[in-house]
Amino acid sequence: MSSFISEVKRTHRCGSLNATHDGNEVVLMGWVQSRRDHGGLVFVDLRDREGLTQVVINPQSSGLEIAKDIRAEFVLAIAGKVRKRPSGMTNPKLQTGEIEVAANRLEILSVAETLPFAPDDPAVNEILRLKYRYLELRSPELQKKLILRSRFVHLVRNFFEVEGFVEVETPILWKSTPEGARDYLVPSRVNHGTFFALPQSPQTLKQLLMISGFDRYYQIARCFRDEDLRADRQPEFTQVDVEMSFVDAEDVIDVNQRAFAKIWKVLKGVDIKLPIPRITYHEAMERFGNDKPDNRFGMELKDLSKLAEGSGFKVFDEALSRQCVIKGIPVSGGAKFSRKDFDDLTEMAKKAGAKGLVWLKWENEITSPITKFFTQDKLTSFCKAVGASQGDCILMVADDYEIACRTLSTLRLHLGTKLKLIDTSRDSFIWIVDFPLLEFDAINKRWAARHHPFTSPQDQDMEAFVKGDESKFEHIKAKAYDLVCNGYEIAGGSVRIHRKEVQDAMFRVLQISPEEAQHKFGFFLDSLKFGTPPHGGIAWGVDRVVMILCGTDAIREVIAFPKTQKAACMMSGTPSTVNRDQLAELGVRIVNVPGAAT
Ligand code: AMO
Ligand code: AMP
Repeated sequence: MSSFISEVKRTHRCGSLNATHDGNEVVLMGWVQSRRDHGGLVFVDLRDREGLTQVVINPQSSGLEIAKDIRAEFVLAIAGKVRKRPSGMTNPKLQTGEIEVAANRLEILSVAETLPFAPDDPAVNEILRLKYRYLELRSPELQKKLILRSRFVHLVRNFFEVEGFVEVETPILWKSTPEGARDYLVPSRVNHGTFFALPQSPQTLKQLLMISGFDRYYQIARCFRDEDLRADRQPEFTQVDVEMSFVDAEDVIDVNQRAFAKIWKVLKGVDIKLPIPRITYHEAMERFGNDKPDNRFGMELKDLSKLAEGSGFKVFDEALSRQCVIKGIPVSGGAKFSRKDFDDLTEMAKKAGAKGLVWLKWENEITSPITKFFTQDKLTSFCKAVGASQGDCILMVADDYEIACRTLSTLRLHLGTKLKLIDTSRDSFIWIVDFPLLEFDAINKRWAARHHPFTSPQDQDMEAFVKGDESKFEHIKAKAYDLVCNGYEIAGGSVRIHRKEVQDAMFRVLQISPEEAQHKFGFFLDSLKFGTPPHGGIAWGVDRVVMILCGTDAIREVIAFPKTQKAACMMSGTPSTVNRDQLAELGVRIVNVPGAAT
């Protein structure tokens, strides 16, 4: 059989034909979505990434006997004439539903075995879908998401280019960077015993580019972090990485929020009102118990410590004597919760780290396991203080500030979702500013950088910081900002330290010895000596932003070849063992792993 693919070119995509093409001779290529044999006529729905077209083949009159061999997912080339479907046979659900193509030439470009599953069947087990990810990627839903991702990246590049940013690629074989996760290491063949680390972000490199004078840099950068995975985390992910010279936080915030507004306008047709509102880290914790709040619904936290004083209820009294807090949230309509509901919520609270959960249920009167310690008036005042009214319930936790916040934030998000209190029809952006510069690492008993060690303290705190006045550390604020959307941290950045003595002070505060600092960041510390412009930047989590643009909460749906929870690729079976010779070349020996080369 002669091949006609070399003689004629595809004229249209399968989703693009309509009644205006009636009578046109066309050539289509694609996959067989379905095939129906109707006594002499074979109907094929031919699919490509743009849609479906119904192709009608009459094997007898056209001589296309091979039509009988066609099966689902075969790849075909067909030539034929577009014609309107007979009345009553149109399909308004289909873009091409008014027409069909009567084939006069057909070639089976390749055959297909029966697929292990239908690409768009959501019931299929995830491991199987990931094993045949390339088949799952045939589903129009996933294709739409990846095509949107491509448009997103294109828009980002366009925006930053127009704003005078220069895209610079930075190395992947690199050095440990200070983002705080574990590194992925690559052993060197040439220098045994030494390793590259894959970059957790291009942080030091983009700062070096400022020192070089690039002034405004951006990059669509791949980052690698060996950390515990979640629904919104992958071991390799992509950032829009940005750095700017001669700027303060306002300049970085301004250009980035304009970029988001542009992207939302083009891709979603939605106006983001600028400036995007801001709240401080402190306010975010107080109101939402969380530094990446979903502020599309209420149920805000309230402090009840004062009201709870002197009750005789051991849990509260002890908490208050230990400088803990008592906080609560209201649950609209929660008075109808059952005992089992409260038991489940208590379990959830315990999982989040709390020792227990007190609930008050406001029906005609207030019922609760703690009624014997409080008058009805007092219980009512608890309820009112968190903004509850009759018909609601409130949930209270007594614990360390962090634990009380984390627990109530978890319950708030859980109930907000379950009770459908979240308006998912809109995206809610908010900047979080005035983060603490440092946090105390109680396990290692030392101070750590909350963002990363190149973040500048705020001006009013600079003196105490450089002096190393530890009594003030807790209150020193950073010139750092995060952008949060719908409860996801989608971008984070800061103004950097650009003076060497301040950077040296930072390493002193973090108890990183001059030798260790030299070993880890010597190249960078040296660079600060040679004329460093004040600079700052930010990085967006591309995968998370695209996830929100697509309206999904699974990061895997916006990454072509994602990894599982265990940081593995089911399709290729990576990570995988390597052979002895490769290890020997690298000077690496594996210990105690069954089945591995040694
Ligand atoms: P940060 O560590 O906050 O900052 O990262 C920036 C953004 O990247 C996204 N992100 C992730 N997305 C998916 N999977 C992950 N494992 C993951 N980790 C982070 C988040 C986050 O807001 N160098 C600094 C930026 C700077 O200071 O300019 C940095 O990397 O959306
Ligand atoms: P207990 O005295 O441990 O029996 O607890 C009495 C009630 O207080 C139970 O409903 C517990 O779930 C709850 N509870 C215990 N510890 C805390 C806490 N730290 N915060 C809120 N409630 C708690």
